[in-house]
Amino acid sequence: MDKLVIQGQSQLHGELEISGAKNAALPILIASLLTEDTLSLTHIPHLQDVNTTKSLLKYMGVDIKNIDDVTEVTAKEVINKNAPYERVKTMRASILVLGPLLARFGEAKVSLPGGCAIGSRPVDIHIKGLQAMGAKIDIHSGYIEASTKHLPRSKLQGCIFYMDIVTVTGTENLMMAASLSHGITILENSAKEPEVVDLGECLNKMGAKIRGLGTDIITIEGVDELHKASHDVIFDRIEAGTYLTAVAMTGGDVLLRNVKVECLDAIIQKLIETGIKIEAYENSIRIKSDGKLKAVNIRTAPYPAFPTDMQAQMMALNTIADGVSEVTETIFENRFMHVQELIRMGAQIDIRGNTAIIRGKEYLEGASVMATDLRASASLVIASLAAKGQTTIDRIYHLDRGYEKLEDKLNQLGANIKRIH
Ligand code: EPU
Repeated sequence: MDKLVIQGQSQLHGELEISGAKNAALPILIASLLTEDTLSLTHIPHLQDVNTTKSLLKYMGVDIKNIDDVTEVTAKEVINKNAPYERVKTMRASILVLGPLLARFGEAKVSLPGGCAIGSRPVDIHIKGLQAMGAKIDIHSGYIEASTKHLPRSKLQGCIFYMDIVTVTGTENLMMAASLSHGITILENSAKEPEVVDLGECLNKMGAKIRGLGTDIITIEGVDELHKASHDVIFDRIEAGTYLTAVAMTGGDVLLRNVKVECLDAIIQKLIETGIKIEAYENSIRIKSDGKLKAVNIRTAPYPAFPTDMQAQMMALNTIADGVSEVTETIFENRFMHVQELIRMGAQIDIRGNTAIIRGKEYLEGASVMATDLRASASLVIASLAAKGQTTIDRIYHLDRGYEKLEDKLNQLGANIKRIH
């Protein structure tokens, strides 16, 4: 298993290109199942989760070609209308094939994703939404078996569905299913994340009729067929936020290209409260920091509030900021696994329920630590960049799931990170 060895306390300077968003690329690749035509995609990031998604689609019979920077995905013949446990257990986003398969073919069999390191993460809302559209759903031996064969023309029926928790992939699954249904579907309490909007825009290019993207009421008028389209995947706001936080902590001056600043508002607001300087441009953002930070309180919540996917990174920042801060996680019940590892580096953190209380110190010290999930791993990388001495991070396959060329990008800015095989 690979490890990262990081020498701390180098300032970061220069420019970086932010990659396409993992959490938009995954549903958009899966949206290819909704049509027999080709979807041409740019800014699909090179990540393990993308490889897992491609291999699931290939298993189903989808043809995927890479021509220069364009990924062409064609689901003309779909032989396997199922997602087996072995594929779903490594990546929960695989549940996103359920809605498209059911809507286009009238049947689907998808493994229940089961538990995951950051919390129990059920998919009951995905299932209830499809049932509200008329699907028959049985759960047998860990599999969701869904069918629309009993419905007129085997088609899902439009409905009004209120999601009692805001769910990103739940909204995406139901939006894709409703695109090929009969009638109008209104999804209430929808997720407003930019990645949901990006998927919706791609579906509209494919001929879907979706209104209200970016609001909590999404209206979808079902159509009989979707067709070919080209789409450029939105930038990864969590990757951008991770690099901004890294520069805030180490000190330096960095310009990030390929960003939409308005998607980063909650993150920028908090970074400005720490005392660093931000300059926002049309498609780029510049951060300047002297590494002297004020502690800030964070409370995660669905977009546009502060994202849970940036909670670990901001906690790392607070460990070396001046003052005492509180970080409250409201989305996932077990997303504090980075805390024990940060404590190994000298951080002072107490956990009370879903709140971590952090007493800022002048510096952290390098140590041997272990990556536990994707964003926890990112927090350890940026903590190590700012720490005194050398840190070794084990189990970094988590990072490879969600950050494109992380160490290359940071080394390009002046970091000293080596990967050991
Ligand atoms: N939930 C339910 N029932 C459901 C669906 C969700 O109770 O049917 C609960 C979850 O257990 C959680 C809350 O609702 O407590 C929100 O979860 P959500 O469904 O929004 O999460 P997700 O769609 O599984 C996506 C991202 C996550 C990100 C969350 C929250 C993708 C592929 N994943 O997950 O990304 O943390 O939204 O913004 O889009 C990551 O990139 O590291 C990551 C974990």
